[in-house]
Amino acid sequence: MTSSRPNYSASDFQDELALIASSIEESLGNMLACQNPGERENQAMEAMRLGALAGGKRLRPALTIGSAKLFGLELSQVLPTASAIEMLHSYSLVHDDLPAMDDSPLRRGKPTVHVVYDEATAVLAGDGLLTKAFEFLAGENVHPDPLVRCRLIAGLARAAGEAGMVGGQMLDMIAEQTPLTEEEVIRLQQKKTGALIAFSCEAGGICAEAHDKEMATLSLYGRNIGLAFQIVDDLLDLESSAETLGKPAGRDKVAGKLTLIDAYGLDEARAKAQMLVNEAQDAITWAGEKAGFLHRLAEFVLHRSY
Ligand code: IPE
Ligand code: IPE
Ligand code: MG
Ligand code: MG
Ligand code: MG
Repeated sequence: MTSSRPNYSASDFQDELALIASSIEESLGNMLACQNPGERENQAMEAMRLGALAGGKRLRPALTIGSAKLFGLELSQVLPTASAIEMLHSYSLVHDDLPAMDDSPLRRGKPTVHVVYDEATAVLAGDGLLTKAFEFLAGENVHPDPLVRCRLIAGLARAAGEAGMVGGQMLDMIAEQTPLTEEEVIRLQQKKTGALIAFSCEAGGICAEAHDKEMATLSLYGRNIGLAFQIVDDLLDLESSAETLGKPAGRDKVAGKLTLIDAYGLDEARAKAQMLVNEAQDAITWAGEKAGFLHRLAEFVLHRSY
């Protein structure tokens, strides 16, 4: 089924995405303000700022804010939650780039944290971003109801932990040594990228105290977007350049990573990503015009160039 398109223009979408990115940048800057700039251990905070600020598409916050919009919530009501999720995502990139993992010198067009500082500082900066995300989610400005805050904390922990991102990253590392089955490659992608992307969508519904039925549609949208996103990440790694991506290209093959492109082939992988995006859009049509932003965001995931 092809979804009917809400009446929301491409230029309105671009403006709103830019507003979300600048709001997240400002919010993360405040969360990571240097308290005692004279102290030597402040190097950890400086490294955290390098890992989290200046750059990134801010896709996960856009998903949270877009999901909350389905229920009439404004950007300001979910900005703290969206910022915490983006902070955790930033941790995952700092650690993903470490020599022990993908050994990458470039991220968001800049030298990576372990290159600018050293490996120990990058490990600590990642730890700092991960833990600060949870400290922040516990704060009252996230949501007045402590039960809602607990649900956000537990959901984010599940998505980021061994049942989600950590498990996926583990499979990704194992895949460099031992071939995986197609089923395992799909599980790898769902866990390493899909779990946090799906939670980013669910978080908007949690903030809005959505009913189970509505939450199920957000989960479905998020799971489809998560898998489509990682297929496109793998396609870009294969076909794009470091200049466009702001991170090295062509690394997956050299590192012996198994991707869905190995499983499906190029054309089928592209078709699969398109199909997942269509299904994601279909899942949220119930929200009518309120789904305009998420509808466009699904297309952005598919057609992005970096
Ligand atoms: C990159 O994520 C890491 C993956 C999960 C594939 P993004 O492509 O969202 O990275 P930024 O935040 O925009 O830099
Ligand atoms: C990273 O996947 C996923 C996480 C950070 C959890 P990739 O290793 O494919 O991401 P890039 O290509 O380095 O951004
Ligand atoms: Mg990796
Ligand atoms: Mg990587
Ligand atoms: Mg990649």
